[in-house]
Amino acid sequence: MTSQHPDSQTQWVNIDLGDRSYGIAIGANLLGDAANYADLPRAASAMIVTNPTVAALYGDRLANALKSRFPSVHTVVLPDGESYKNWESLNLIFDALLANRCDRSTVLFALGGGVVGDMTGFAAASYMRGVPFVQVPTTLLAQVDSSVGGKTAINHPMGKNMIGAFYQPQRVLCDLEVLKTLPDRELSAGLAEIIKYGPIADVSFMDWLEANLDALLARDPGALAFAVRRSCEIKAWVVGQDERESGVRAILNFGHTFGHAIEAGMGYGAWLHGEAVGCGMVMAARLSAALGLVDQAFVERLAQLVLRAGLPLVAPVLDEQNNVDRYLALMRVDKKAEAGEIKFVVIDPIGHASVRSAPDAIVAAVINASCRV
Ligand code: NAD
Ligand code: GLY
Repeated sequence: MTSQHPDSQTQWVNIDLGDRSYGIAIGANLLGDAANYADLPRAASAMIVTNPTVAALYGDRLANALKSRFPSVHTVVLPDGESYKNWESLNLIFDALLANRCDRSTVLFALGGGVVGDMTGFAAASYMRGVPFVQVPTTLLAQVDSSVGGKTAINHPMGKNMIGAFYQPQRVLCDLEVLKTLPDRELSAGLAEIIKYGPIADVSFMDWLEANLDALLARDPGALAFAVRRSCEIKAWVVGQDERESGVRAILNFGHTFGHAIEAGMGYGAWLHGEAVGCGMVMAARLSAALGLVDQAFVERLAQLVLRAGLPLVAPVLDEQNNVDRYLALMRVDKKAEAGEIKFVVIDPIGHASVRSAPDAIVAAVINASCRV
C-alpha cells in the first residue's frame, strides 16, 4: 500500500507484517531531517554502521540529525566492498557496540548500500539477541531491494549470503538525493533489480521501464522516484505474503541462481551483484524459453533492457576446462536447492514467475549459449 503525507512530497510504502510492519519513506533530503527519526524507539545510543566512501559523503549529516533523538551517536566504519561482507567485518560492529557499552535498546543505522545493510541487519538480529535497526540505503539497489524485507546475511567463501537471519528494520528511508553521487556502474547495478520486478510481477512496469530507461540513466528525479516506489510496492506485496520465503518470495530471486554462481565463481566483488543478476536474468529467461514457458521474443526483449541499462550480457567462463560443471556445482550451494537439486526461478508467463528444477542438459545448453553470445 502506498500513501503520501499531506505536508510533504515524501511517499510511503508500507510493509504489512503484523507487529513487525514498517514504512518505507521515499523522497528527497530525508537522511538529514531529524523529523524522520523523532518517533523511533527511545535509546541512550545510536550506532551508525557505514563504510569510508559513504561516511565521507553522508556520515556527518546523519549523525547530526540523530543527535536530537539519541544522547550518544557512535559510528563504526567497515571496509568498503562485497569481499568484506564477512565475519571479520561483522565482528567490527560487535566490537564497536561493546566498546561503547551499547545496551539492548541501542538503535543501529545502516548507512550505505546492500553490503552495509545486510551486515548491519545481521548484527542487529544477533547483538544481545536483537536490537532495533533502521535502513538508510544509499545505493539504488539497496533502495529498491536489499533494504526492504528483512533478509540479512554475510557471505561464505563457498556460497553467497549463506549465513544470516530474517530480521525486519523499524523503518527504511530512501533519500533520492544521495543517488546523485552514485557511480554510473552502481546505478546500472541497481537497475538490474528494478528490471527484475517487471517479468516476475508486473508487465506494465516492464513497458514503463522500456519507455523510461533513458530518463533513469539520466537520473531524472521523477523517473527515479517512480521506479523506487513501484519496486518497493512490488517487493512489499511479495514479502507481505511470505516473509520467510517458504513460497512466493522465491520469485524475487529471478536471475539470482545463475547470478550468485557468477559472483562466487568470479570471487566476490569482481562482478557487482546487480551485474551478475542482470546477466543471470537473461540466462533464466533463456532457460524459461528452453522449457517452453516463454517465447524467444521475450528473451530478446529482456536482453535489450539489460543491455541498455549498461549491464553485461555475456556470462563469464568460470572454469576453462569444466565450465558447465563449475556453474552446476556453485548453483547446488544455492539456498533454493533441495537435496542437491538446483531450483530456478522461471518466467511463466511474462508477469508471473515460478520455481522449478530443469534437466542438467538444458541448463548446460543455456550456460554454453550465455558464455559465448
Ligand atoms: P554496495 O553496498 O557494495 O555499494 C556499492 C558501492 O557504492 C560501494 O562502493 C559503496 O561504498 C558505494 N556507495 C554507496 N552509496 C553511495 C552513494 N550514495 N554515493 C556514492 N557511492 C556510494 O553494493 P549494493 O549494490 O548496494 O548492494 C549489493 C549487496 O546487496 C550484495 O551483497 C547483495 O547480496 C545484497 N542484496 C541483499 C538483498 C536483501 O534482500 N537483503 C537483496 C539484494 C541484494
Ligand atoms: N532479494 C530477494 C529477497 O529479498 O527475497
